[in-house]
Amino acid sequence: MKLLKSDLFGQMTLEQEQGQQIVVRDTGTARWWLSWLARRLCRREARALARLDGLPGTPRLLAVETGLLRREWIEGRPMQVARPRNSDYFRLARRLVAALHRRGVAHNDLAKEPNWLVTPIGAPALVDFQLSTVSARRGRLFRALAREDLRHLLKHKRMYCPERLTARERHMLATPAMTSRLWMATAKPVYRFVTRRLLGWADREGAGDRRF
Ligand SMILES: Nc1ncnc2c1ncn2[C@@H]1O[C@H](COP(=O)(O)OP(=O)(O)O)[C@@H](O)[C@H]1O
Ligand SMILES: [Mg+2]
Repeated sequence: MKLLKSDLFGQMTLEQEQGQQIVVRDTGTARWWLSWLARRLCRREARALARLDGLPGTPRLLAVETGLLRREWIEGRPMQVARPRNSDYFRLARRLVAALHRRGVAHNDLAKEPNWLVTPIGAPALVDFQLSTVSARRGRLFRALAREDLRHLLKHKRMYCPERLTARERHMLATPAMTSRLWMATAKPVYRFVTRRLLGWADREGAGDRRF
């Protein structure tokens, strides 16, 4: 068992199960007064992963129970370590994000580089769906969230592969959405309130959180 990450919301570990490597999110170690939120976020992740059902580039959901989630391990390095400068990576990443959206899942946390992996063949993969929105209808609000996902991806492209940004992509980067309604449509208000106001803890995991 290897500890991948531990914070006030619980821990992520890498484990071996029947010869298979799996990632376990366990909210059992969360602070007691945060465990309700940690469990809710865990449930959100389970819902999104179940909907994606092992879409290539996303971890398959293996099991879920209250506050505990097992998902497939995807071999790869986080974006801030791998620093993908190859335009193929971003072409495939765009396709992956579109595939997510077609299935009615908006990720909502793509600004963070640690949530993007670069696999050994240089392809993108996504983890950490705990702030995701699942929508069957894909109405206006969902489409706006989907557009924000894409804009966050383009910010990474601007960082690592700026010469390949198209005119359309530059335009999209220059026009952020009106955020307040979008913001309220995700789990972020509660999450941010707890992390920033109550804990005084800027959730800036990884070098890539360039949102502010
Ligand atoms: N399937 C996976 N394959 C490779 N690395 C992973 C995988 N799942 C998680 N990790 C690593 O563990 C870190 C924490 O997992 P994540 O789901 O982002 O948890 P958190 O919600 O606490 O940020 C990730 O940023 C990533 O670096
Ligand atoms: Mg994460």
